[in-house]
Amino acid sequence: MTQIDGRPSEQTIERTREEPVIPAQQSWSPAPQQLSLTDEEFELGPNGVPPDKRFRALNRLAAFLEDKRDHMLGYQVTEDMDAYQEDLSRFMKMHCNNLGDPFQAGGYKVNTKPLERAVLKYFTKLWHGIPYKAGKKDSCWGYGLSMGATEGNLYAMWNARDYLEGKRLLSSGDTLKIQPLSYVAPMAAEGKDHAYEPVIFYSQDTHYSFAKAIRVLKLPTFGQMGRDRYPNDCPLGGEWPDEVPSALPPKTGKDDQYPSFGPGSIDVDKLVVLVKFFAEKGYPIIVNLNYGSTFKCAYDDVRAVSDRLITVFGDNGLISRDVEYEGGGSEKRRGFWIHVDGALGAGYMPFLDMAAKDPKYGYEPEVDIPEFDFGLKSTYDSGLPGEKPVNVDMVSSIALSGHKWMGAPWPCGILVTKVKYQMQPPGQAEYIGSLDTTFAGSRNGFSPIVMWDHLAQHPDDRQISKAVHSQRMAAYLVEKLKMVEKYWRNKNEDDTLDLFIDRTPLAITVRFRRPNPDIVAKYSLSTVTMRMIPDDDTSIRHLAHAFCMSFTTQDRIDTFALDLCGDDAFDFDETTPTPQPSPRFDAGVPMAQSPFADRGFA
Ligand SMILES: Cc1ncc(COP(=O)(O)O)c(C=O)c1O
Repeated sequence: MTQIDGRPSEQTIERTREEPVIPAQQSWSPAPQQLSLTDEEFELGPNGVPPDKRFRALNRLAAFLEDKRDHMLGYQVTEDMDAYQEDLSRFMKMHCNNLGDPFQAGGYKVNTKPLERAVLKYFTKLWHGIPYKAGKKDSCWGYGLSMGATEGNLYAMWNARDYLEGKRLLSSGDTLKIQPLSYVAPMAAEGKDHAYEPVIFYSQDTHYSFAKAIRVLKLPTFGQMGRDRYPNDCPLGGEWPDEVPSALPPKTGKDDQYPSFGPGSIDVDKLVVLVKFFAEKGYPIIVNLNYGSTFKCAYDDVRAVSDRLITVFGDNGLISRDVEYEGGGSEKRRGFWIHVDGALGAGYMPFLDMAAKDPKYGYEPEVDIPEFDFGLKSTYDSGLPGEKPVNVDMVSSIALSGHKWMGAPWPCGILVTKVKYQMQPPGQAEYIGSLDTTFAGSRNGFSPIVMWDHLAQHPDDRQISKAVHSQRMAAYLVEKLKMVEKYWRNKNEDDTLDLFIDRTPLAITVRFRRPNPDIVAKYSLSTVTMRMIPDDDTSIRHLAHAFCMSFTTQDRIDTFALDLCGDDAFDFDETTPTPQPSPRFDAGVPMAQSPFADRGFA
């Protein structure tokens, strides 16, 4: 395969476009030879590795990683590390560990909890929440994640499950006549068989961390619960789906009406129908909404979902209910939980919103910036005489990856929820000198320094220009891909050749036909083989996507576009699935049903 030899000049691509849209730049510099590492270079033994070999191995590793970083387009990580190395290398000389609750000092003093708290406060305010104050139930509590948003999602689902199962709240204090620090369940609610059996809803475009989290937590999806208990009653008709269908594409007459052709956001009407079915039977409800979905970077309409579901929750006694404990004592709490998986989008969309609201940035979004955070309130009006409408804060938790929008040398992130939802931890680890309210034992104390340093170096103005830049780069990539498509149509004298170019409104990712494996590897593209129409093998498409993060430049996109014009850049005859075994496993990669069932994108 020749990416260099077969490639036309930038001018050739230029000539193929109909109208000048965005001026192309002079961009090409020959790519370095593709490097690869072998396991043998890094093998360890009882004698260690001699210094010369060790340096050579580390140099090779650095060269490999730098090359991959410099071509990265496929994943939603920021590779621009600002000045972390200069600012922070001195902290590599100690072991920072934020054991225990971030708002309690704890016994291990080599920690960075003040910075962790500063980061949590920053995002709490950005997301229109009330910063943490001990005992203030509506204030926001959270912690810095040692993993990424996966941990945040898992923790949120754990919290949601225990909260809705009626387990004891941290804030109950001594008000209940039950053993403090014990992990108790409520008494069965009379006449309400399902009052403590939460059911979870999330869309087809949801990240695979949810499928894992609910398996770990033994949380039933509505699909499982439906199949087990109400096999013939799916309110959408037919079989119970595993996930809430994603929205259909706008009716342009061009695309088929299947979610795989749609924007990737949740189908709000279908979600409401499904939630209503279970709420009416008394089940408490967990809904996950995506804010920047993994493949299409779609934003679920958190406002529309909240405004529609509040009536379902209110009509079925889920806005406030009594949880009673054996031996006396009861508490009031809600019977629903809305989690926002903002792994990517919660990091930059608030800044895009600021840009859209201030003419000085000259940014006009193609659609309104969707609301998603703790500021979102919906009103329930029972319509009953004497009852006043109530305003309800709808979002219970938000997870964010630190390495995605902000950029960090390793996975990290934050989870923010509210004091009023915090559960009593299963036991108190006196050993760590603070409540064991987080997920792990040891917690990464370096990540808060990295996130703090990024935020300290990025006043709002700078964040806003980065967010707007990403939008512009995504629009630019679409234009470039269209030029590449035109080039191939001209070259093959075939006007039907399709690169399947698509971009969801406000997305910073663009999807397109999968190029050859060398290009996929060069730019670390992530790919998926997908049936666009369920069970129809003739509808199979091989797709890839590229992310325009804040460090993405026109140069990089231009270089990429040139590679896509190489002689063997695409196999246009590729019609059958080619699941590729990974080098380590013999099993094939399962093909996705529309739109995203193999969860193949990190
Ligand atoms: C929507 C969404 N949620 C969760 C995750 C998982 O995040 P992390 O890799 O930080 O664990 C991702 C990762 O791509 C994602 O796109």
